[in-house]
Amino acid sequence: MSKVIVTGCCGLLGQKLVGALQKQSVVGLDLLDAFPDKNLKLDYSLVDQADLDQLNAAIQQYRPEWIINCAGYTDVDGSEKNKALAYMVNTGSVENLVEICAAQKIKLVQLSTDYVFDGKDGPYAEEDRKNPLGYYGVTKSLAEDVIVQGLKDYIIVRTNVLYGTGVSVRPNFVTWVQKRLHEGRPLKVVKDQNNNPTLADNLADAIAELLDIKFSGIIHFGGADYLDRYQFAKTISEVFSYNASLILPALTDDLQQAAKRPSNGGLKIDKAKELLKTKPLTVKEGLEILKKQLQSIPINRH
Ligand SMILES: NC(=O)c1ccc[n+]([C@@H]2O[C@H](COP(=O)([O-])OP(=O)(O)OC[C@H]3O[C@@H](n4cnc5c(N)ncnc54)[C@H](OP(=O)(O)O)[C@@H]3O)[C@@H](O)[C@H]2O)c1
Repeated sequence: MSKVIVTGCCGLLGQKLVGALQKQSVVGLDLLDAFPDKNLKLDYSLVDQADLDQLNAAIQQYRPEWIINCAGYTDVDGSEKNKALAYMVNTGSVENLVEICAAQKIKLVQLSTDYVFDGKDGPYAEEDRKNPLGYYGVTKSLAEDVIVQGLKDYIIVRTNVLYGTGVSVRPNFVTWVQKRLHEGRPLKVVKDQNNNPTLADNLADAIAELLDIKFSGIIHFGGADYLDRYQFAKTISEVFSYNASLILPALTDDLQQAAKRPSNGGLKIDKAKELLKTKPLTVKEGLEILKKQLQSIPINRH
């Protein structure tokens, strides 16, 4: 049994990873007072991982073999306004992790994003040239560089458009669309942003398997379907049996968001398909799983 620390364990992916790693000895770190999902077994500590002393103390106490870093400042537009905080959480805290992991020979798994690419000619392969458009992508890209330069044994998993549900997690694209349609409110959805949306549960299974097979390096994991957000929203309405005419097509420029978005983003997943038994799910497969889960898990933070 391996000892694994999951940082950001109260977030969407963090909760799914705690679930996927129940056979290991898992310790969770995050900013909440307590871990929200009482059905999962977890040793939990409140740690602000941007604070080197707090992080060090937790790692000394638990002495893990692995740290899976799911903590992040994930607000893409907020990162343009709160640059210091975005940098501290997404890059500075990874500098801390790298320092500790190098000194104590702990293997680090870092979550990263297709936003490290500019979206001119995606989907992207692992070795493609990075060129982030917004500050969120800059902070995640810098974190990758710190890891590659500072550690020999690491896993960087890039993913995109995570969706799913957990206890008290932040809204994501699918839960936002589903809530608006449920309330009968129209919504504008962009036709010019392409990705391969990823069910968080599917990604958590893939990461658990990467630990098992002792993968080292950079790998992409995303859903099996590459599509634009408007098509994705239409598929959500179909699976959840809502009125699709409430979904109105829009262009990214119409939305006047603070951060630029990659247009043809998304990730090539050939390496993951070759190496892993965990198969990337199609959008319909992922949404059907989520639909079943939503019948039993309340959505609290929306
Ligand atoms: N969501 C996506 O579409 C997507 C796509 C590609 C990559 N990723 C990456 O995947 C990872 C997980 O994403 P997610 O969707 O699960 O994010 P999430 O739900 O926002 O979870 C991130 C967690 O990190 C916590 N956190 C923030 N600052 C922290 C700090 N200083 N110390 C300790 N914990 C802190 C957050 O707490 P608060 O909620 O209290 O801030 C939250 O619980 C992130 O690294 C993200 O960059 C996400």
